[in-house]
Amino acid sequence: MSERTLAIIKPDAVKKNAIGDIIACYEKAGLKPVAIRMMQFSKSTVEGFYAVHRARPFFDSLCAFMVSGPVVVLVLEGDNAIKKNRELMGATDPAKADAGTIRKAHGANIEFNAVHGSDSPETAKFESGYFFPGMDLIGS
Ligand code: RTP
Ligand code: MG
Repeated sequence: MSERTLAIIKPDAVKKNAIGDIIACYEKAGLKPVAIRMMQFSKSTVEGFYAVHRARPFFDSLCAFMVSGPVVVLVLEGDNAIKKNRELMGATDPAKADAGTIRKAHGANIEFNAVHGSDSPETAKFESGYFFPGMDLIGS
């Protein structure tokens, strides 16, 4: 089933000039970008986006990291896009990520881990609408 998911190329990956490599990974895996936006997050933008993590001990440092430089926000479309993108990203901690994953290639540690991906249809809907109001969850 063709579905859509929300991905973010985080500030660490943008700083190390990995935008092209990461988008190539998506495309090679059959995840087609259908919306792309490069932007600098404000504190309130990232706090709203990661609101589900507000009570976590790492929330403040996560927000500080996400506003530390520009990011690239994308909606990706493909069969089982949400699960496929999570597999392509690898584990949250790059040290535990499988070979060939984006976080293994570009992440430094559990905090500076190169990419974000929606983890369920509910979060994909919320996150896509957060940056691209009106976008559908199901693709063509
Ligand atoms: P993401 O939401 O960014 O796709 O990452 P994820 O699902 O794999 O991990 P999640 O548990 O949702 O955590 C969100 C982001 O918070 C940072 N984090 N830091 N210091 C820590 O222990 C810690 N744990 C998580 C990471 O940047 C993680 O991607
Ligand atoms: Mg998450």
